[in-house]
Amino acid sequence: MSIVFQEAHIISPSDGIDARGSIRVSDSGVIETLSIGETPLEPYAEEKVIAMRGKILSPGLFDMHCHFREPGQEYKETLLSGSAAAAAGGFTGVALMPNTTPVIDSPLGVTFIGYHAGNLPVDLEVIASMTEGSRGEKLTAFGSLKAYGVRAVSDDGTAIQASQSMRLAFEYASNFDMLIIQHCEDRSLTTGGVMNEGMWSSKLGLKGIPDISEAMMLARDLMLLRWLEEHKLHDPLCRPRYHAAHVSTAASLQLIREAKRDGLQVTCEVTPHHFTLTDQDLYLAEKKGNFIMKPPLTSPKNRDAVLEALADGTADAIATDHAPHALHEKECPPGEASFGIIGLETSLGLTMTELVMKGVITMHRAIELLSVNPRRILRLPPIRIREGEKANFTLIDPEAVWTVSADHLRSKSANTPFIGRQLKGRPMGIFHKGRLTASARGIIDAPEG
Ligand code: DOR
Ligand code: ZN
Repeated sequence: MSIVFQEAHIISPSDGIDARGSIRVSDSGVIETLSIGETPLEPYAEEKVIAMRGKILSPGLFDMHCHFREPGQEYKETLLSGSAAAAAGGFTGVALMPNTTPVIDSPLGVTFIGYHAGNLPVDLEVIASMTEGSRGEKLTAFGSLKAYGVRAVSDDGTAIQASQSMRLAFEYASNFDMLIIQHCEDRSLTTGGVMNEGMWSSKLGLKGIPDISEAMMLARDLMLLRWLEEHKLHDPLCRPRYHAAHVSTAASLQLIREAKRDGLQVTCEVTPHHFTLTDQDLYLAEKKGNFIMKPPLTSPKNRDAVLEALADGTADAIATDHAPHALHEKECPPGEASFGIIGLETSLGLTMTELVMKGVITMHRAIELLSVNPRRILRLPPIRIREGEKANFTLIDPEAVWTVSADHLRSKSANTPFIGRQLKGRPMGIFHKGRLTASARGIIDAPEG
């Protein structure tokens, strides 16, 4: 049966649409009619109608940085539970980091994920590791991985410390036109650290992570990249592309700003937790484990730099770094907590509450950051809202006020610092792969993911 999305505020930056309109999707999931304007579509007899007046319909959101823990740590998250969390958060696709057990460093691992992906409500893109076992030494077989559909490589969770390995990774990635995603961390500065180094770490007596550790590694990588370009040491047909994950400090963002200005092929993402929280929030928190991640929550100055980067275009994407961990790994002394927090189900709400409502960015730019740009960075085909295209939408209620609660999370884990936080703006559901998936029971007339 076809569905009509009636009188939505359609925002699709790739199509130049920011207007009221209605969309009919055929029973095979294709956009049959796109009608821009105030007049609703006349529904067919018994056709399903989703009333979207006052609601937003956007191209499906894409989170380019998630950890779903399968294979190996299914007690934290599985491909199934992670996908349900993604759909509930309004995402129709995610890219998965390879630090599973074993690490996804070969076509076998890629095939494993691909095999399970077909029946899930969201698309799964595999990011393979840059080095074998993410040990930072021997590079993985980029060419074979590319042949299996991998678009990007990363040793996320750690960074390649040896400059020689990083140089080779740049050259090798350019040979195969693959994106390098770096988790920027100079481990010689961070080893043993728990939270941002500063007044709050001193008060808590916790070993600090100096914020320069991020920019230090980023500066090394950008120097290498500049040098390779200057001396034309990369593939002559293909310039290397570099993406900095979860960038959290003013110094790093300044380096990225300069690299972009100089024409290097550099992009970066920032996370909702880094644009919302600081290390003082960790100090004040009761459940400190849920405020511990890498890179750590840091100073107001760095948080404000993230906001500035979102506003001025230095930040290309919002990504969650959705990193599920079980209760016993978080509800423990902070120095023993695993790094990382979940984020898929709060990303859109935080973006709307902290950025759009506070005037940092427009809703149009929010959709670029959450959908258009992450797909472009990974060279995924853009989602078009046009007749004849496969429907791939996120439905958003910009007025819904809701409180984050552990009971509603679809993720297997509940390690988020945002439990109890009131947000304005909420995903209603997604339409993807020919089916409607509701974010929560009762929001729209459709099953949950
Ligand atoms: O906090 C983090 N957790 N940062 C990372 O880069 C990795 C992630 C994880 O895998 O738990
Ligand atoms: Zn990560």
